[in-house]
Amino acid sequence: MNALPAPVAPARSAPGVRRRRYLLCPPEHFAVEYAINPWMDPDRPVDRDGALRQWNALASVLRSLGHRVDLLAPRPGLPDMVFTANGATVVDGRVLVARFRHRQRAGESAAHRRWFEAARFRQVRTAAEVNEGEGDLLVAGPRILAASGFRTTTAAHQEAERVLGLPVVSLRLTDPRYYHLDTALAVLDDTRVMYYPDAFAPEARRLLRRLYPDAILAGAPDAAAFGLNAISDGRHVVLPAAARGLAEQLRAADFVPVPVSLPELLKAGGGPKCCVLEIRSA
Ligand code: ARG
Repeated sequence: MNALPAPVAPARSAPGVRRRRYLLCPPEHFAVEYAINPWMDPDRPVDRDGALRQWNALASVLRSLGHRVDLLAPRPGLPDMVFTANGATVVDGRVLVARFRHRQRAGESAAHRRWFEAARFRQVRTAAEVNEGEGDLLVAGPRILAASGFRTTTAAHQEAERVLGLPVVSLRLTDPRYYHLDTALAVLDDTRVMYYPDAFAPEARRLLRRLYPDAILAGAPDAAAFGLNAISDGRHVVLPAAARGLAEQLRAADFVPVPVSLPELLKAGGGPKCCVLEIRSA
């Protein structure tokens, strides 16, 4: 069993922190049956009960921080559905439902679409271009940071800009281990990010340096521990416990690191942020 971290002050009571609404999906059908990223090895056994326990601990942590957790019903035959971040991007109640790169995950789009329609979101649109939701489109205050290179296309960046109404900054990823933007960069609040420079193409590094001169830069071991796959509410940063260096750097920048451990989901190339889709209501 995972030990729950010591209680931290709820988001509501901390200054400058917003209570968030998150969509999660329990890993009831979680498995590694195919390999669409270098972390996945279908020959390596996965402990589904362990995955469920670890995921439950993550959901408890988010609730204990004062956030609202909504649930998407898991469906058999979609073993990566626990990674709700990839299902959509939501800005001001506008929902851009993902279009997956790989056929193995294609069925997740319809499930997300139905959830948002049932929850009475009125502007729900399925992307025409390949985009993997918040895996590659990260809302960062006044802009969206968008990745290309492995999953989401640059045409999808233009579509996101049109549909979601925020300017998009395109960043090209180059290291297959960091195939989604949320494995290489985390948005900490409206003006701050942390990232792993080596995951990005030179022009993307230049852009990031210019936009975020004071960013927290992750070292290779913390990046490999999926430390950048973090969930921030502007103060608390939920991240893999193994990313100890990053936790220190966050503390020094006045954030509160909240460690979690999801080793079963890491076998699919996923971490805490992958399990969470932020619902930004109008
Ligand atoms: N196995 C999944 C895939 O390769 C993992 C997705 C992780 N999600 C994320 N937001 N990085 O698509």
